[in-house]
Amino acid sequence: MSVERTFSIIKPDAVAAGQAGEILAMIQKAGFKVLGLRMTRLTETQAQGFYAVHKERPFFEGLVKFMTEGPIIVMALEREDAVKGLREVMGATNPANAAEGTIRKRFAANIERNCIHGSDAPETAAQELAFFFSTADLL
Ligand code: RTP
Ligand code: MG
Repeated sequence: MSVERTFSIIKPDAVAAGQAGEILAMIQKAGFKVLGLRMTRLTETQAQGFYAVHKERPFFEGLVKFMTEGPIIVMALEREDAVKGLREVMGATNPANAAEGTIRKRFAANIERNCIHGSDAPETAAQELAFFFSTADLL
């Protein structure tokens, strides 16, 4: 294991519900250092590009609509084994299957409106970080 970076989004449902602060606190309690953080809003084209891997899936249109419905908070995070570690703190995609104490168990409404995104591999983390942050901005 080594120190690694990952990328995360607090999704529109959680930002609108005022849960961003508590979600960030859970991430920091899990040992992540915040290298970058800002609020933004995705355009339809950005959301389609970000989730392009899912473009043939039946939920794609709903996912793009959801991800563009309001502001999001994008974060660059660093920790030992960050990619896998963040996925553990997030919990399963479907909150019904998420473990106790995870972010999705606590805040997600359902499999689609599930409050947080985390990169699924170091390679996608690098791509997603570059999508939202310039290296010079990461402290
Ligand atoms: P994410 O990419 O957002 O971190 O979520 P994930 O890896 O846990 O799940 P993924 O399979 O990559 O799905 C991306 C997002 O699409 C929505 N989704 N809806 N209705 C459905 O069956 C369904 N399945 C996935 C969720 O918002 C999910 O996080
Ligand atoms: Mg995913």
